Amino acid sequence: NWYWILYIGLGYVLGSIPFALVIGKFFYHTDVRNYGSGNLGGTNAGRVLGKKAGISVIVCDILKVVVAVGIVSLYDQEASIWAGFAACLGHCYPLFAHFHGGKAVATMFGFLVSTSLFTFQNAWYVVIPLIAFLIVLYIGKMVSLASMCAAVVSTLYITFMQASISMEVVIASWLLTILVIYRHRSNIVKIKNGNENKITWL
Ligand code: G3P
Repeated sequence: NWYWILYIGLGYVLGSIPFALVIGKFFYHTDVRNYGSGNLGGTNAGRVLGKKAGISVIVCDILKVVVAVGIVSLYDQEASIWAGFAACLGHCYPLFAHFHGGKAVATMFGFLVSTSLFTFQNAWYVVIPLIAFLIVLYIGKMVSLASMCAAVVSTLYITFMQASISMEVVIASWLLTILVIYRHRSNIVKIKNGNENKITWL
């Protein structure tokens, strides 16, 4: 089906909007790529520009995936899953920022939110990764570690606990978990060496 190219392209283009860069440059006249971890994500925006900026970036990054999945699901439910996946890829390898983007944490969450909202009407696989994230963040104080754990937990939950969830979502979720972990390679080295950034507010 030729429309799939359009749907997946739409996902990729929407995911490519680098909100950490846009919000940083527009409201703070700061390129967050030059500070902190250099990552184009909500965590680094928060670290460099403050909590308000961090939360704004996270919300926008979640919403761009929700919008992509929402629009495509009006036409084709199955394609909407892969449009959401493409949006996460766009976030990591953005068309609008020389293919250097973020680590797919907020966007994977956006993928879970939107597929649960538009396709499966199941709130658990939104709530469970959030709880996992908060527990690991509280114990370890590292957003990177909490993010990777949340991705794994949500995917295990989708795979083994929810018979009603389609195989496409299971596969996309595993691929996204691999993407999240792959994008955190430098964080993994730092965690091993004991010099990963830690949050101070929890
Ligand atoms: O938002 C991604 C997060 O898990 C890690 O970000 O900037 O600490 O590498 P950062």
